[in-house]
Amino acid sequence: MTAAGYEIAVFPGDGTGPEVVREGLKVLAALAEGGPAPWRTTEYPGGGQYYLRTGREWEPEGEAAAHRADAILLGAVGWPGATLPNGDLAGRALVLGLREGLDLFANVRPCRLYPGVRHRISGEYRTVWTPEHVDLTIVRENTEGLYTPARGRLRRGGETEVAVDTRVITRKGAERVIRYAFETARQRGRGAPEDGAKRVTCVDKANVLEGCRFFREIFEKVGAEYPGIEREYAYVDAFTQWLVRNPEHYDVVVATNMMGDIVTDLASVLQGGMGFASGGNIGTEHGMFEPVHGSAPKYAGKNQVNPFATFFAVEQMLRWLGNRRADAAVVAQADRLERAIALVLAAGGSGTYDQGGQTSTSAAGDRVAEAIRGLPR
Ligand code: IPM
Ligand code: MN
Repeated sequence: MTAAGYEIAVFPGDGTGPEVVREGLKVLAALAEGGPAPWRTTEYPGGGQYYLRTGREWEPEGEAAAHRADAILLGAVGWPGATLPNGDLAGRALVLGLREGLDLFANVRPCRLYPGVRHRISGEYRTVWTPEHVDLTIVRENTEGLYTPARGRLRRGGETEVAVDTRVITRKGAERVIRYAFETARQRGRGAPEDGAKRVTCVDKANVLEGCRFFREIFEKVGAEYPGIEREYAYVDAFTQWLVRNPEHYDVVVATNMMGDIVTDLASVLQGGMGFASGGNIGTEHGMFEPVHGSAPKYAGKNQVNPFATFFAVEQMLRWLGNRRADAAVVAQADRLERAIALVLAAGGSGTYDQGGQTSTSAAGDRVAEAIRGLPR
């Protein structure tokens, strides 16, 4: 933090990233109106499109800012054809690279269905779940598992014969993310919608995988320190059907990296789709917040995509920052943003194309900014 307030490093990234980040900055500016801004935002270039233009994923200034900043806001990275010479996603430095480099070990993805938001299955909008059914948080391990950079190819005579990815589960990695999940359950005001129970569900494949058996052992041990919180296990395959059938049963879910990646996309359907899904990449010293929908190249430049995931990412960021710095004013701004989002959603103001409407990205941002102005600072 400097005299000018908390420093927020912003990476709009690729595709629709810049469009949703623009709206995120709009609501941040609206929150700060009428007083000295408690934060200062600076944008830095980077990503796959930047790589195609310059041959670099990002600039040293951006990297330094990410390491120095009080919080990071990321749009999205990934662009068709933008790959590094080793086959990796160009732009990985901004997402996977920062998860590793800043040790952002917990990927925290809240999944809540707000009144006024529609969700669809089978291509139709349906009322299968109501907001009373969906309010859980998935905590995904974010630095190891199948994402561990212990992979490669065996090439013989110029031809690949074998490709290997190694899944690594460490005591340290498991312990800290599991503890984070129990702490999240402890701090969440409400438990599972079904019965109000505080519950952490360990999602794994311990009937087959050794790493998952180890993860469970650690889950048992850490969980025993939280007597008020129910411990539960679910094999990841069975979990996918239970999650869709009975989302109200879940409070906090913890999973290893790749499994968490998959089940969080599935869970987003419960909250209205990826257009509402935000994630916080959280470590001991740093936090990076993002809408998790990706760069959506097909929609880039059309001012059509849903910016609410970014609003929720901003809310998550302010809440994390305010709590971390014991800064009640910043937490209050997170609350204010959440109220504004809920008001706009309840009024049917999330009608971007993914909700079956025609509201543009920027119009949705205007509505939330207006709602913020209507709430006391
Ligand atoms: C996510 C994304 C990333 C991941 C990609 C972009 C590397 O899908 O944040 O969930 O796999 O973690
Ligand atoms: Mn993903």
